[in-house]
Amino acid sequence: MSSSGGSRFDAVDIIRAKRDGGELSDAQVDWAIEAYTAGEIADEQMSALAMAILLNGMSRREISRWTDAMVRSGTRMDWSGVGRPTTDKHSTGGVGDKITLPLAPAVAACGAAVPQLSGRGLGHTGGTLDKLESIPGWRASLSADEMLDVVRGAGAVVCAATEDLAPADKKLYALRDVTGTVEAIPLIASSIMSKKIAEGTGALVLDVKVGSGAFMKDVTSAQELARTMVDLGTDAGVRTVALLTNMATPLGLTVGNALEVRESVDVLAGGGPEDVVELTVTLAREMLSAAGIDGKDPADALRDGSAMDVWRAMVTAQGGDPDAPLPKARESHAVLAPVTGVLTDLDAYRVGVAAWRLGAGRARKEDAVQAAAGVELHAKPGSFVGGGEPLLTLHTDEPERFDRALEILDGAYTIAPSGARPDLPPLVIDRVA
Ligand code: URA
Repeated sequence: MSSSGGSRFDAVDIIRAKRDGGELSDAQVDWAIEAYTAGEIADEQMSALAMAILLNGMSRREISRWTDAMVRSGTRMDWSGVGRPTTDKHSTGGVGDKITLPLAPAVAACGAAVPQLSGRGLGHTGGTLDKLESIPGWRASLSADEMLDVVRGAGAVVCAATEDLAPADKKLYALRDVTGTVEAIPLIASSIMSKKIAEGTGALVLDVKVGSGAFMKDVTSAQELARTMVDLGTDAGVRTVALLTNMATPLGLTVGNALEVRESVDVLAGGGPEDVVELTVTLAREMLSAAGIDGKDPADALRDGSAMDVWRAMVTAQGGDPDAPLPKARESHAVLAPVTGVLTDLDAYRVGVAAWRLGAGRARKEDAVQAAAGVELHAKPGSFVGGGEPLLTLHTDEPERFDRALEILDGAYTIAPSGARPDLPPLVIDRVA
């Protein structure tokens, strides 16, 4: 039924129902999303409804219908032409989270098709497209036909979502961002899952980050978000699994666009930091299992060069030169360890904000990012550091940015006397299926 004229329901009645703790009917949910997308519900009314949802929550049925209505606000992609099972991963966002870069090629090298529609970074977490755009020539925006060609040829594509993928979410997310309503679990879950369902993947693995650098700071709320998203995927016919993973400290040894591409290429070449390799392989096995593919181990694909072959094909198909040197920052500054001992803590959020202040991230959607800015880590929690030796190196093209980055890094780490054994959380904290 059409929502023309906004006459089927009254926005104020819907806001009052949710404000008073009631449940919205399927027809009310459909109308709210359709009418908002069509501009028939005003931003201030949708803000009030989003706040009522944040305060009073939604039932599983309401969240499922809300998600489905956002999927139906645009087109749902169809990958049946690629001739292989499709599988994808979504991360709720973290600091140094470059996992998509080695992961998509490793999974494709094992026989799945990986259609990954990604976003740009906002705030202290980086965006996959920003990272890949540091490769000279690489293009994020592809038409639906081009995406299909890249997946057919390389096995994986990582690119920007088209405008008609869940347009209701684009509008609603922008509104939530400026009305203090991002943090509602029903709204986060429906926002993420509407895009992944519309993307058309058959299987999905969710990497729900937990810790200071993540949206979800504690395990209980991360479990609730994971459960909600797994249920939404399952209701929509997508085989969905979630892992809760540690984001108390940055992933790997680099934070920043080109720095993270370099580290990802190390992983594709069979090296790279242990935590990045472990998470890549763990998520890859989950993606393959959800897609019903067995018999190939993604750890072998990283070792034998087959994942690297996919990476090179994928980058080349999107106009990038996998052999071109990556940009290097004009200026760098070393942060020295003040004492000798064991690094017990290096705060992900503060390192993420430092990288952002150095120019790696953006405050507004329209801002440009510096390809080469960011933070290099010389130690991870649990390792020995020598007093006076570099702990971090900061990179930027604009040296006037160092002071503000150093400000947030003050108190970002703890060094305990040598011999201390910090109690570090495991990389994979929980699994929700
Ligand atoms: N990422 C999304 O896509 N949506 C949210 O609401 C939060 C994070």
